[in-house]
Amino acid sequence: MHRGASFLGSEVAILCGAMSWVSERNLVAAMSNAGGFGLIACGAMTPELLDAEIAATKKLTDKPFGVNLITMHPLLMDLIAVCAKHQVGHVVLAGGLPPAGSLDAIKGSGAKLICFAPALSLAKKLIRSGVDALVVEGMEAGGHIGPVSTSVLAQEILPEVAEAVPVFVAGGIGRGEAIAAYLEMGAAGVQLGTRFVCATESIAHANFKKAFLRASARDAVASVQIDPRLPVIPVRALKNASSELFTAKQREVAAALDEGTVAMGEAQLQIEHYWAGALRRAVIDGDVEHGSLMAGQSVGMVTKEEPVAEIIAVLMAEAAAAFEKRVA
Ligand SMILES: Cc1cc2nc3c(=O)[nH]c(=O)nc-3n(C[C@H](O)[C@H](O)[C@H](O)COP(=O)(O)O)c2cc1C
Repeated sequence: MHRGASFLGSEVAILCGAMSWVSERNLVAAMSNAGGFGLIACGAMTPELLDAEIAATKKLTDKPFGVNLITMHPLLMDLIAVCAKHQVGHVVLAGGLPPAGSLDAIKGSGAKLICFAPALSLAKKLIRSGVDALVVEGMEAGGHIGPVSTSVLAQEILPEVAEAVPVFVAGGIGRGEAIAAYLEMGAAGVQLGTRFVCATESIAHANFKKAFLRASARDAVASVQIDPRLPVIPVRALKNASSELFTAKQREVAAALDEGTVAMGEAQLQIEHYWAGALRRAVIDGDVEHGSLMAGQSVGMVTKEEPVAEIIAVLMAEAAAAFEKRVA
C-alpha cells in the first residue's frame, strides 16, 4: 500500500468513496484521522456550502482529505475555485471525462486529480491527458454504476496502466482479503463506500443504517431504464418502494423531452437531481421506503455499527493475514 498511501499522504491506502449526504465533515474527518483518506461528496452542494464544509472538516482534522466533484455540476468551475482557495490536495472528478478547462484548473491549483476509468481505453486516454491517479469501479458498487464487474475491470486495466499511475480499485470490497488480492494485482489501494455507511461517525439516519444491517447482497439491485431515448446511468440501491417513484420520474422527464420543453442535457440533470433528493430523503430524513437506499453488493458484510478506526483495523488485519497465508 506504500505507493497509494504516499500518493494520498495517508497511513493506509484506503479511500472512503464520496457518498452524497453521508460523506460530510464528520465521516471525512474520522476517516482521515483513522489513517485512511476521506472525501467530501460535493454532488449536491453549492460553492458556498462546499466552502463551509471544507472549512468545517479542517477544524476536525489536520490530516489530508479530498473533495469529490461531479462533472455534470453546472457550477463545476466555481467549485474547483473553492477547492483551490482551500488548497485541497486531491480532487476526484466523477461522472465522465473532465470537461474542457477543468483538468488545467484543478492541476493548476496544485491539487492531484483522480478520475474514474470505466474501460481500458478511457484509462489510457485519462493518463495521456495528465490525470494523476485512477479509480477503477465495478458494477458491484453502491450508487451510480457502469456495466462491468470490478474483477473484470481490474484484470483488464491494472496490468496495462498500474505502473504509469496509482490505481485504486472500488466496488464490492467488504473484507481485507479482497484488498490483498487487488494489491497483488497491482492496485495502489482501494476505495470503499458501503462498508463505511454504518460507521459510528457517519451521520446517516438510524433507519438508513438499520436497512444496511438487515440487507444481504441480493437486496442491492440496479435501477431499470424504462425509455431507451433517455439514457440514465443505473444506480445500485436496496430494493424498496422508490423504484416505482424512479419509473414515474423517468416517464415525466421522457414526456418533457417529447414535448420539447427540455433538452437532453437538462433531462439528465433532472434525473440526477431526483437521485440527490431521493438519497437525502433516506440518509437525512430516514424515509427508507420512499427514499433511495444506495448500497453496494458488499452490504451483506456490514454487520454492525462501529467506529471508522475499527473498520480500517479489521480490513488491514484481514489483508495482512491473507498475505501471511501466501508466504506460509
Ligand atoms: C450511499 C452512497 C452514495 C454514493 N454517492 C456517491 C457520490 O455522490 N459520488 C460518487 O462519486 N460516488 C458515490 N458513491 C460511490 C462511492 O463513492 C464508492 O465509490 C462506492 O460505494 C464503492 O463501492 P462499494 O459501495 O461496493 O464499496 C456512493 C455510494 C453509496 C453507497
